[in-house]
Amino acid sequence: MTYLNTRGSRVSIRMSKESDLTVLVIGSGGREHSLVKICLNSPIVSKVIAAPGNGGIATEAECHPVQVDDPADIVSLAQRVEASLVIVGPEVPLAAGAVDALEAVGILAYGPGKAAAQLEASKAFCKDFFARHGIPTAAYGTFSDVDSALAYLDTQSYPLVIKASGLAAGKGVIIAENREEAASTVQEMLSGAAFGDSGRQVVIEEFLEGEEASIHIMVSGEDYLMLPPSQDHKRIGEGDTGLNTGGMGAYAPASIITPELEQEIRDTVIRTTIDGLMKDKLDYRGTLYIGLMLTDAGPKVLEFNVRFGDPETQVILPLVADDLVDIFLKCARGDALPDKLNLHPAYSMVVVLVASGYPGSYPKGDPISLPDQLMRSATLVHAGTKINPEGELVTNGGRVLGVIGTGPTLKISAEKAYALVDQVIFSTKVFRKDIGWRQLERKPHKA
Ligand SMILES: Nc1ncnc2c1ncn2[C@@H]1O[C@H](COP(=O)(O)OP(=O)(O)O)[C@@H](O)[C@H]1O
Ligand SMILES: [Mg+2]
Repeated sequence: MTYLNTRGSRVSIRMSKESDLTVLVIGSGGREHSLVKICLNSPIVSKVIAAPGNGGIATEAECHPVQVDDPADIVSLAQRVEASLVIVGPEVPLAAGAVDALEAVGILAYGPGKAAAQLEASKAFCKDFFARHGIPTAAYGTFSDVDSALAYLDTQSYPLVIKASGLAAGKGVIIAENREEAASTVQEMLSGAAFGDSGRQVVIEEFLEGEEASIHIMVSGEDYLMLPPSQDHKRIGEGDTGLNTGGMGAYAPASIITPELEQEIRDTVIRTTIDGLMKDKLDYRGTLYIGLMLTDAGPKVLEFNVRFGDPETQVILPLVADDLVDIFLKCARGDALPDKLNLHPAYSMVVVLVASGYPGSYPKGDPISLPDQLMRSATLVHAGTKINPEGELVTNGGRVLGVIGTGPTLKISAEKAYALVDQVIFSTKVFRKDIGWRQLERKPHKA
């Protein structure tokens, strides 16, 4: 079948009927396991394939190896398995142009093309986008040469935020307490010593104070649907202390985003963003993750990611009552989206189990024992796991498993998650006991 999408580009889609999709999910983390579960539950999906997948995904879906940073390899796999829709999970294949390559051979894909993926792949590009379209964000400068960066540092107050512009797997942001620290950070980044080519351009920006929250929207050109707001915990230690990680836990909905604040974000951030994408002719069809700092002067955007956040995905997707695959398909085609998303009136929390030593070095291959039977309202999502040659489930990464609890209040969802945390056993297991503390302690709070 060939569809003409709303912008007139031709997208052909292979499927015998609308309810017979073969979906290929690209990626290997907790985010992708959550996406695989959504696909398995979708009435319009008949087959789910993941690449490369992980130890948990492999028990639920067919997994194939793939070079995620190589669009040609993704295309050849998608053709081999006759995928009707490819959902690209991580930023690396999006930035490499996986979606453009898939569409070029007539395969529908959920996720932005290479041009729009620069919003994540280049923080300098993203900040210029914010500035051009009046999207509230921290004051900034972008630099590729040391002398002008150092001159700029003299004009700033401290603390100051220094960011490697390119992809740095969440490690490229440094908060400098003084000019000296800022100067050495800038020099290390620009020389390529700190983050290779990702640091050869830097963004230097004003330090914002406030609480962080994120909002995911699914975009199809001019239309978008908002997912429940979430908050995550990046630091390894309780009370949000210690080293930064990929994420130790998250919860949704985040009640700090009140209905009034949500409206303000729709008006000042999202509308301006969608209009900006149209003006810049950035054909956006996929998830946009909006990282926000809620300052006294209103919400300001810290960054955009061009895909679902991990672990946030693990808590927001289960709150959606509608068939998300149908929405992904509409976005991939560039079709109009429904006016609103139907949500379950529930709260969801994920506690991430990591391998001891993470985010530094950690052992792999530790055998994992899971309970035979899961309680209702609690689920497990695999991230760094694999099935070893002996057929055992073992650890295979820093973030090993996400344990998700869902309930009518955040407190109940936490109880469900932590009860299951205790039943998952591996000798290197480490986790935070205080996920959700901001919201659970907030007085008065809604949940
Ligand atoms: N302008 C800022 N003011 C204060 N903190 C910031 C600022 N920019 C980033 N941060 C902190 O650094 C973290 C990482 O920055 P972000 O822009 O999200 O980059 P990335 O996620 O790619 O590492 C944020 O979650 C926030 O805690
Ligand atoms: Mg971030």
